[in-house]
Formats: sequence, structure tokens, C-alpha cells
Amino acid sequence: MLIRRFKITIARNEWGDCQIGESPETADQSKPTMPPCSAKHQQRAPGAGPGWDTLRASLRFERDPLAQLRHHARRADMFPARSLVAGRLRVIASRELAREILHAPLEQYAAGAANSRILPLLPENTLLTLDGPPHLRRRRELSPLLGHGRLQATVGTIDSIVSQELDTWSPELPFPVLPRLRRLTLRIATAVIIGEIDGAEFGLLERGLDAALKPYGMLSGSSALRMLGPASPQAASARGRERFAAHLARLAADRVPPISSDELLALLLAGQDTTATAIAWALLELARDPLSVRAMLDQSGQLDEAWLDAVVHETLRLHPPLIDIVRQPREPVELGGEVVPPGALLMICPALVGHARIQNPQRFDPARMLGRRPDPDGWIPFGGGARRCLGAPLALTELKVVLRQVLQRFVIKPARPALEQARLRGTAVVPVHGGELVLTRRARSR
Ligand code: HEM
Repeated sequence: MLIRRFKITIARNEWGDCQIGESPETADQSKPTMPPCSAKHQQRAPGAGPGWDTLRASLRFERDPLAQLRHHARRADMFPARSLVAGRLRVIASRELAREILHAPLEQYAAGAANSRILPLLPENTLLTLDGPPHLRRRRELSPLLGHGRLQATVGTIDSIVSQELDTWSPELPFPVLPRLRRLTLRIATAVIIGEIDGAEFGLLERGLDAALKPYGMLSGSSALRMLGPASPQAASARGRERFAAHLARLAADRVPPISSDELLALLLAGQDTTATAIAWALLELARDPLSVRAMLDQSGQLDEAWLDAVVHETLRLHPPLIDIVRQPREPVELGGEVVPPGALLMICPALVGHARIQNPQRFDPARMLGRRPDPDGWIPFGGGARRCLGAPLALTELKVVLRQVLQRFVIKPARPALEQARLRGTAVVPVHGGELVLTRRARSR
């Protein structure tokens, strides 16, 4: 049983570095760019296999990833870490460095190659994994699928999918919302990108996606495992993608837009967990903040749009769903006084950047976002620059539609006394109990 749990943990968690949270106590307090590593860490060759230390550190990091990153960010704007999947990397914690990297000329950093390193099960030749002119071309081709025009045309559909889902939520009993939201966000992304499909077709697509994204595939980055042949993670990933393509081919061809099954797989992967996680955190925070709910909802049950925006923006500042936005320099580059070699993996952490220069940064306080646009340097849940999330308008629409409908229908209460801790699931930072809430139906008179 124990072994089984370890296996699952390793496969699902890309992090595994004993350095995170363990810099020497003698480190200079004046925020050096890179605090010195311990001798043990320096001796370990890049890409060396995980030992018990690494495994223990990996489990510790999975249990409380942000606390450990924050511990380091107090001392340095950039610090070393190690991911079980991607190997050595540098974590970027400051607004200035994040801005410098995200808005650098396109030829300076590769993002697609870096994405492939942290998510090796992403197919090649997709928007997420391409770089340079092919990336720009693909982005232009895909933009209409997720742009404002498409959203305007489908917002009624999104509304009705959410309404059907909420009809199935049962009041009074505590239940974790995240699994339900994952299904909901997949359903919405599918409807927006390829059109509405019936329940049976959706079931096929969902199973195909699950097969393609089996956690074992996360180990595809390790070339050493290729020697396992048909049992290797690379082969398992390829089989999963073939099954997904076969499920997709069974849908009527005229419904599927002119994109490959790999591209659709990558889009659904990019949009499902991220959006579901953001909605779950928003509901968890609102369940503990009746004053904000009262400010949002008037007596007739109408939502104040400015407050709704503020809640969405504050949720994404405090709980950005992705722990990492990655880049790798193509040439040596000077960052914060250090020369970073080409190919080094840089991980910008939106949660650390979103805490910088904010009073009581760990407090959920939507009022601080009220009536203003989020600061583009400090608020980067969707990344930035030319690679900014293509699905951001869809994600923001989903967040607002779901929050509006949930609050209009239910009074939400937390199922536990303390806010759920954050855990790492792949590269998403999710509430550890899946966002447990207790719902009560609102009286109709509101
Ligand atoms: C709250 C929900 C979401 C969050 C927090 C999020 C976050 C991100 C982040 C941080 C990036 C990397 C940006 C960079 O490298 O600078 C990204 C890229 C991307 N996201 Fe999202 N995302 C969300 C929802 C979605 C949705 C719903 C879709 C589509 C269905 C989507 C599609 C994409 C695509 C295609 C890219 C790659 C863009 C490119 O490389 O040009 N995302 N997202």
C-alpha cells in the first residue's frame, strides 16, 4: 500500500529537490540573486536519479509547495530548485525579473521547448510546444477559436452548461467541488472549441483525454526510460494520444475545427485543470467571506459586476492555478547580476510575483482590486508578453458565469474550520481536499 502511494506521488509530482526550503542559515539576508547551495546539492550531477533525500523533499514540497517557495523568496529574487521531471531550474520570484523575461524580445527565450521539459506528455507541434515563427503562425490560426467573437457566440451555451451542472449539486452535505468543476470546464472548453456534443460523445472524449494524460506519461522526459520499450512512459503517452485521436475521429468530422487531435488535446489540457482550480479557490474563499458575498449580491439576486471582477482578480492573484511559467534563454543572458547559460530552465512563479509589494499578501481581500485593472507586472496568473495565455478570456468568462450562478442559487459555507492547504497536482496548485463546501439553497425571494 505504501509503495503504491509513493509510486503515485512520484508520477504526479514534478518537483523533487532537497534544496527547496533548505538553504544554509548563513545565507546573506540582503537578498542575493542565488543563495549558495549546500555541498550535498552541488555534488549531485544534473539529472542524477532521485535518492531518498530527493524523494523525501519531493513529498515535503508536494505537501506545501508555496510555503517552501515563499521561504526562499524572502531571501532571493532568483533561487535554484530541482524538479523531478525537468531537473535543475531557477525560480524567479520578483516582479522586475519576471517582467524582464516575459517581455524580452521573442528571440531571446524559448517557451515551447521549456514547456515540453516541464510537461513531457505534451505532444510536439502544438501551440504550447512550438517556438519562433511557427508558434506565431499557429497562434494566429487558433486565436479565432478562443477569441472574443467566439465567446460572444457561445456565452449562452456556457450559461446553460453551467446551469445543467448546478442542477446536479446536492445541498446540505459537504462535498468536494473540484472533481465536478474539472468535468464542467472540460465540457465548456469542448463546446467552445468544437461545438456542443451529446453526453455519450463527451464521455468518449473525456476517457480519451484521461488515457492520453495518464500520470505515468509525465516521466516521458527521462530518455533513460525509453529502454523499457512498449512499457516506457514515452510509449504509454503515444498510445494514449492515439486513443484520444481515435475518439475524436468518431465525432462528426464537420464539428471538429481544422486542427489536429494533438492540438485539441493540448488546448483541453491547458484549459481544464487551470480553470477548475481557480473556480474552486474562489468558492472556498467566498465561503469564508460573507461580507464580500453580501457586497456582490443585491436583494434581488443581481450580481454587482465590479465586485465580481474584483473577486476573480483577487482569487487569481492569491491562488494562481499554475505554479510555473517557464522559459529558457537561447544565448547567455544576465539576470539580476548573474549570467544564466543558454538552455537553463527559468521558472517564473506567479504566486510569488503576486505577493510582492502587497500589504497582507496572504489575505483574500477583493476590495483591493475593486474598480481597477490588475497591475500587469504583479498580476501574472496568465503569464505575459507574446505567449500570454490564449484561453484567458474564456477562463475569465467561465469563472464569472460559475460564480454568478452558484451565488444566486446557494449560500456557500466552508466544510472545514481552516482554509484548505494547497497541494501540487502536476503543475496546478489545488486545494488538498478538493474544495469541500456545504451548500444551502437560497430562498427564492432574493
Ligand atoms: C484560470 C485558467 C487559466 C490559467 C491560470 C492559465 C494560465 C496559463 C499560463 C500561465 C500560460 C503560459 C503563459 C506564458 O508562457 O507566458 C498559459 C498558456 C496557454 N493557455 Fe492558459 N490558463 C488558463 C486557462 C486556459 C484555457 C481555458 C485555455 C483554452 C481552452 C488555455 C489555453 C492556453 C494556451 C493555448 C496557452 C499557450 C499560449 C502560447 O504559448 O502562445 N488556458 N495559460
